[in-house]
Amino acid sequence: MFGFRKKELVGIDIGSTSIKLVQLKEVKGGYELVKIGMAPLPTQAVMDNTLMDIPAIVEVVRSLSKSLGVKVRQVACSLSGNAVIIRQLSFPTMTAQELEEQIHWEAEQYIPFDINDVNIDFHILGPDEVDPKKMNVILVASKKEIISTYVALFKEAGMTLTVLDVDAFALQNAFEANYDSSPDEIIALADMGDATINLNIVRQGESLFTRDIQMGGNLYTLELQRKLGITFEEAETLKLSGSGTGDERTMGVILQCNETLAMELYRSMNFYGANAGAERISKLYVSGGCSRTPFLLDAIRNRLEIPVELIDPFQKIIFQEKLFDSGYLKEAAPHVAVAVGLAMRRYGDK
Ligand SMILES: Nc1ncnc2c1ncn2[C@@H]1O[C@H](COP(=O)(O)OP(=O)(O)OP(=O)(O)O)[C@@H](O)[C@H]1O
Ligand SMILES: [Mg+2]
Repeated sequence: MFGFRKKELVGIDIGSTSIKLVQLKEVKGGYELVKIGMAPLPTQAVMDNTLMDIPAIVEVVRSLSKSLGVKVRQVACSLSGNAVIIRQLSFPTMTAQELEEQIHWEAEQYIPFDINDVNIDFHILGPDEVDPKKMNVILVASKKEIISTYVALFKEAGMTLTVLDVDAFALQNAFEANYDSSPDEIIALADMGDATINLNIVRQGESLFTRDIQMGGNLYTLELQRKLGITFEEAETLKLSGSGTGDERTMGVILQCNETLAMELYRSMNFYGANAGAERISKLYVSGGCSRTPFLLDAIRNRLEIPVELIDPFQKIIFQEKLFDSGYLKEAAPHVAVAVGLAMRRYGDK
């Protein structure tokens, strides 16, 4: 028999501090969890969204998928930060094929590299609200050299990179599969990791603005290290138990970093707000390990003056209770939002 079952994929998010793996199965009306796991990366294996120590990363990918018994070899992974350039542009209305022919010429002015060194992808969002003769397009460009590194990395790990996504869009994917938002509502999503905050402002499945802020959980660790004169490792341990120790100096540093992060988010969201036609953002949903920092969400709430909530990437995903520990899923949830979004991609997706 010939099946038309879409090829199964496993979502692998290579973060600065750890690798997250999620596999989902499509079931009637949604998804079921098949595999989930996280494994720490050696410090400096990934820096500023750049894969520095490929053999170490390959080893972690390989051992994580082996320990979880992952059989699927097709992978969806994602880029972020300076590895990818995303622009929302407006074009005269045309077909996807016509745009395909033109996009290289048009893209040149938005890309700070030689156009021959980059791969260009685009996604037509739909007609422009202000000028119906125009359409809105998202342009995504990444250096061929970076893409080849990811392809080679997974090949080395015995897998095939089939979908290369963008962190901010994978996050959006995970959000949309789990939450219903009303048609005119504008929502901000922020994955706050170790080195980067991926911000994506969306309305009804349409991304209106993205920005990667080069800041995250490592700010706390670096500041604790600097201000308390301790090692990076000591500072990281202290941070993770920071609220428990009740130490005033530690808490002082943490609260100060909370303000810095909240201010950075505020600035980026204001930048979106200054665009013509921008409407008010009604709510911010956050994920990422950094979002677990004590009192951070309060600081963001105070600064932005909108409701702030943690994303639950498993809200609508079913799982067999005998296979997965709900305590573990709760612990892992903030870290795996991007990987969950990746796991929903299918071969041939744009
Ligand atoms: N309970 C906690 N309180 C505060 N920070 C935490 C806690 N748990 C984890 N973190 C921090 O979260 C960060 C890791 O989160 P996450 O796994 O989302 O990042 P990443 O994907 O590795 O990094 P990035 O997305 O920036 O590349 C680290 O900075 C870690 O110290
Ligand atoms: Mg991350």
